[in-house]
Amino acid sequence: MAKAPAIQFKHIPHPAPVPGATREQAIADPGFGTVFTDHMVSIDYDEGEGWHSARLCAREPIMLDPAASVLHYAQEIFEGLKAYKLADDSMALFRPEQNAQRFNKSARRLAMPELPEEAFIEAVETVVKADRSWFPKVEGGSLYIRPFMFANEHFLGVRPAKKYKFLVILSPAGNYFKSGAPAVSVWVSDYTRAAPGGTGEAKCGGNYAASLVPTGEAFAKGHDQVVFLDAVERKWIEELGGMNLFFVFEDGTMITPPLSGTILPGITRDSLLTLAREEGLTVREERYSLDQWREDAGSGRLVETMACGTAAVVTPVGKVAGNDGEFTIGSGGPGQLTTKLREKLVGIQRGTVEDRHGWVRRIS
Ligand SMILES: Cc1ncc(COP(=O)(O)O)c(C=O)c1O
Repeated sequence: MAKAPAIQFKHIPHPAPVPGATREQAIADPGFGTVFTDHMVSIDYDEGEGWHSARLCAREPIMLDPAASVLHYAQEIFEGLKAYKLADDSMALFRPEQNAQRFNKSARRLAMPELPEEAFIEAVETVVKADRSWFPKVEGGSLYIRPFMFANEHFLGVRPAKKYKFLVILSPAGNYFKSGAPAVSVWVSDYTRAAPGGTGEAKCGGNYAASLVPTGEAFAKGHDQVVFLDAVERKWIEELGGMNLFFVFEDGTMITPPLSGTILPGITRDSLLTLAREEGLTVREERYSLDQWREDAGSGRLVETMACGTAAVVTPVGKVAGNDGEFTIGSGGPGQLTTKLREKLVGIQRGTVEDRHGWVRRIS
């Protein structure tokens, strides 16, 4: 079969990039998700024509008709990945093809068109190269990359749209958790995030809209993140609002909830499964209940719990609270394996630990 021709990106010069001194100030300590760079990539889709008008241009407001279908039926998906700096000051992405594949899986679930994997990766690389001067100087900093797609046909019927827009924007990032604490505290919610047959494994905006009230509740009670249980029995641990979970036991086994369709298949999760097996751990993808978590933390059988995701990498969970009271994991601080796996993963991402799996993709 003939290979589809690569998408050509037109470079439209930015009329007024942010002045250097203002940019330096903005990236000195950017936190997470509030500072944005000069450019974006945009690609349009029309039924019958396919993907077209790929361009690198100034990041600017987008015009939407009030009837644009995304505003009514939330046909929207997104991804999240980071550009890292390697020791030689060049930049690299971590397993971007996994994001491209997950994006297309989300697209299929939301009845949206798929974007060729090469176009997704090229779009990401194009905007990262254009805005490399926005890379934050802060320790552990990265350029957070947000590719997303939404339906912009103006039509009010409930059916898949015939027009879409794909955009990639960048946000210089520092530390994800506002407390910056070495271990996070989590709140077990009574709300559920995803039901079997629903959209839990897709990265669609609607899932996150539904998580805002439970997450707000967790914050209001002084916690860093929310834990969701399964929607059927309300007992099996699924994931955090934006991270997957791993449970580590004193006998060297590690458990993570299985990809049963209701949790996001995290790329950090997948990477940790590989790294933990390399460390000689027995890793199982298996259901684990809240009651068992509490009991095992109390008996000392469970020694660590770690949360993982692109934004916060690998983070120890120190305290768990819910309507039935609270319990502490291990010493309440970072455990040995969490620290080791975090260092290994961060080392691979930053080029200081050998990349044995071809996960790092340099941006020239
Ligand atoms: C709900 C949810 N679970 C897990 C993750 C972790 O996924 P990844 O490791 O690919 O960032 C994320 C982050 O994107 C998320 O939003």
